Amino acid sequence: MSSDQPLVLGIETSCDETGVGIVRGTTLLADAVASSVDEHARFGGVVPEVASRAHLQAMVPTLERALATAGVRAADVDAVAVTAGPGLAGALLVGVAAAKAYALALGKPLYGINHLAAHVAVDLLEHGPLDEPCVALLVSGGHSSLLMVPRVGGEDVVELGATVDDAAGEAYDKVARLLGLPFPGGPPIDRLAAEGDPDAIAFPRAMREDGFAFSFSGLKTAVARWVEARRRAGEPVPIADVAASFQEAVADVLTAKAIRAAADQGVEHLIIGGGVAANSRLRALAQQRCDAAGIRLRVPRPGLCTDNGAMVAALGAQLVAHGATPSALDLPADSALPVTDVLV
Ligand code: KG4
Ligand code: ZN
Repeated sequence: MSSDQPLVLGIETSCDETGVGIVRGTTLLADAVASSVDEHARFGGVVPEVASRAHLQAMVPTLERALATAGVRAADVDAVAVTAGPGLAGALLVGVAAAKAYALALGKPLYGINHLAAHVAVDLLEHGPLDEPCVALLVSGGHSSLLMVPRVGGEDVVELGATVDDAAGEAYDKVARLLGLPFPGGPPIDRLAAEGDPDAIAFPRAMREDGFAFSFSGLKTAVARWVEARRRAGEPVPIADVAASFQEAVADVLTAKAIRAAADQGVEHLIIGGGVAANSRLRALAQQRCDAAGIRLRVPRPGLCTDNGAMVAALGAQLVAHGATPSALDLPADSALPVTDVLV
């Protein structure tokens, strides 16, 4: 890899992971993550104040760990990228303040970037550059969207559709809670589903055939009703079958729509990103359906799907390489940053 590509430091603090990544171009050099997830587990969800405090404590050690792993000095960094939104306001502020301080102290440009666009751009670290347009399925804890992406890491993103209620990850977290599984719910449901029958219960697939928007709240309610009916009748709840059937409904709708979107946009490539892209059934079904439809699928490895700093650095490196104008040093953190605002 040529050293004329920019060395970019990426800082991520939008939720409960303090992530610091270092990349050169599309090469990953370090991906240090400190998670406060255990501190939130007993509350069944992320507690914003707890997350902010954990970010403050973890920021400098995580950054030093990333520099040591990459074998570079802070002074070698060409640019600093940071998640400016969307996310928890107080949590975002910690990363944005740290990034400003490093950029100012090092005399390097600052790029305030969109967390959701970074979930897509991180795939470049896994599969290398992509010189053609793609459709991206973005599925995280707070967002679910289908995007038309003319160039991965570019600033022109068009939202084809988004969830009208719960995000896919949110549905996982809520269903896990009602099954008595720990938070976050994606990984335990994924594991349990492997032992269950995905055809055991026919859960609804809302809006599967129409448009590019999603709806998962009805599915969550259907799971809750089914489980309650069992409990009321004093019958055991076959939680592995519930998990597998729920997971099948989610993966079916997501992949059916993503493939239809790619065909509709006339693109050959589909990227799936965000925490839910770590899901084993979603990955397998997407591969199967993309193969059948002649679409080339790119999904980063599970460790790069969930929140991390490398994804921020990956998007930052693309912006630097294409001459994007850096952010102002009074860059705000925007908890509701729209998915189409790639660079703030
Ligand atoms: O992208 P992410 O790490 O954070 C946000 O930006 O929200 O996504 C977190 C979400 C959570 O809802 C979590 O339950 C879900 O991703 N998740 C999964 C899996 N791993 C994480 N969902 C399904 N299957 C998984 N293996
Ligand atoms: Zn995320």
